[in-house]
Amino acid sequence: MDHYEFNTAGKPETSLPADFEEFSKSVFKILSTYSNVHRGSGYFSRKTTEYYEEAREALIEYSGFDSKKYTIVFCTPAGAGKLSSLIDCKDYTLFSSNDYGIPLGIRAFAVRKKVLPKGWPFYSGGGTARLVSADWVIWAKGAEKFEAGTPPVVNIIAFASLLKLRGKFEIRKNTGQSSDNSTGKYLLLHDDLVHLKGLDLLNELRRKMIGNQMHVNTKTGDRTFINFDNAASTQTFSQVWDTVLKVWQQANEVHNEIITETKSVCSGFFNAPPSDYEIIFTSNTTEAINLAADSIHSEATEDVDNIVLTTLLEHTSNDLPWRRKNKNSVIRLDIDDEGFIDTVALESILADYNFNKSHGNKRIGLVAISGGSNVLGCYNDLKKISEIAHKYSARILADAAQLAAHRKIDMKDWDLDYLAFSAHKLYAPFGSGALIVRKGLISSSFPDKENVIRSGEENVTGIAALGKAIVLLSRIGMNIIEEEEKKLTSKALDGLSGIKGLEVYGVKDSRSEKFERKGGVIVFSMKKIWPDKLASALSDRGIGVRYGCHCAHILVKRLLKVPHALEQFQGVMLTLLPKISLPGVVRISFGIGNTAEEIDRLIEALKDIQAKLK
Ligand code: ALA
Repeated sequence: MDHYEFNTAGKPETSLPADFEEFSKSVFKILSTYSNVHRGSGYFSRKTTEYYEEAREALIEYSGFDSKKYTIVFCTPAGAGKLSSLIDCKDYTLFSSNDYGIPLGIRAFAVRKKVLPKGWPFYSGGGTARLVSADWVIWAKGAEKFEAGTPPVVNIIAFASLLKLRGKFEIRKNTGQSSDNSTGKYLLLHDDLVHLKGLDLLNELRRKMIGNQMHVNTKTGDRTFINFDNAASTQTFSQVWDTVLKVWQQANEVHNEIITETKSVCSGFFNAPPSDYEIIFTSNTTEAINLAADSIHSEATEDVDNIVLTTLLEHTSNDLPWRRKNKNSVIRLDIDDEGFIDTVALESILADYNFNKSHGNKRIGLVAISGGSNVLGCYNDLKKISEIAHKYSARILADAAQLAAHRKIDMKDWDLDYLAFSAHKLYAPFGSGALIVRKGLISSSFPDKENVIRSGEENVTGIAALGKAIVLLSRIGMNIIEEEEKKLTSKALDGLSGIKGLEVYGVKDSRSEKFERKGGVIVFSMKKIWPDKLASALSDRGIGVRYGCHCAHILVKRLLKVPHALEQFQGVMLTLLPKISLPGVVRISFGIGNTAEEIDRLIEALKDIQAKLK
């Protein structure tokens, strides 16, 4: 870690937090075992969830409220604006990271549990729902229902740590005269690996990935932890962390440069030129899609009933926001067994609604489709889909949560209207994300737009991390990343095919034609063992995966051929017995941190588990 100068004498020069070194160590500790919350089964996910819930407890304690009556809801500033408009101000107290000098973009509501709004939350998507069918939703309980998508976990825990440390030291912050090596551009573009590119850089980044090679206690002794849950969240690189540490010490004008520079980096990476597209920073994909959905809903007219065409593939974050106004406002295109849509069927449905006008005043205004499935790992052809959508005057939104870190995206060439993605799946887990949208599609008079822009840009930490991570990925080259992931995926599919009783869903064979459009996400089930038990047996062997419905309930139920009656029954059972295990699948998902040797260990572990089954 760099050396930091502490101003321990005299009057504090800035409002920066107490004891910077202790604070930064506490954030580093989170990054060392970082994964997603409440999602995976491995050591990292358990640890992150534990820290996250500790942050909630710390906030309740700090608020001085009774934890039996009050809870903490963590929000972005934009989300906080929405929640506060729904609750009487006497029922909550709001804490803001803005008051503590580090730009984290966090709000914490200490709110009376019984006043939390019923029904649809203001943002819907991953995490807000426990079970989703095409017709109904069983919402998560308590605070979780209002923490849509992956929460900005690291920032939230950092915020709790700031509250705890407040008042010990002040750090000397660079103000005014910024030197050449502390401009926003320099901070994003320079690092200790600037001399490397391509595969050499990828290998070095893997070596320097924070938390890689961490040893954990397992039932088979001390083992290196394997993170096969990159589709949920990715760990970060020490170069991203170094950038964050430096950015925290810069004055506001450098923070503004970071925002401008990250926009320019995103614009180049996704080929979304500023003449055609605007970039709105959000906290994650879910917030980005909710913004697009609210803006599209606000365009409704009396004459035309605009509906959205999605697919059976979607994560709930690209389904629920579209049906918030009306469950009939979404139709879903079918997929084949590997997760690919039929573009002939797409064209026929668009023609039916928008050209032949066979459905009264209903028109498909938008095709909203996942660029990469978080379950089947398939990449549908966005360029082709966009061409068909535009031919019938529909717009196209790509949920790129699972695509952005894995394949080259070309917004201009593919003619995309909206693109949503998250930084925590792109090696920058500091609570940022973005909606890149064709200019003019979200009117500047739409009030939420300004709120989300202000809210997203408050989290300069997340924006800097995102900018730095993209700079690193660009220097590796997305073609190299694709090649490396394909090698891992192919090896894993080969290994899995040799395990008795194990069924892989989606593309199964690396020699098949469809493998070209398959990413490093594989789901499977094993006979005679429930997915939660299988995931836990892997965790016992030091391997972190995810199991269940992966916030894509409609898709997983289709893969498992759950009939309608059973689906209804599951809904009832889950309402009566909230902890009940439902059918699902186990998922492994790869990132830059993974190696071929780790896949050998996975296959060996699965064989061992299988052999021990009665
Ligand atoms: N959407 C993330 C996943 O698929 C959280 O795991």
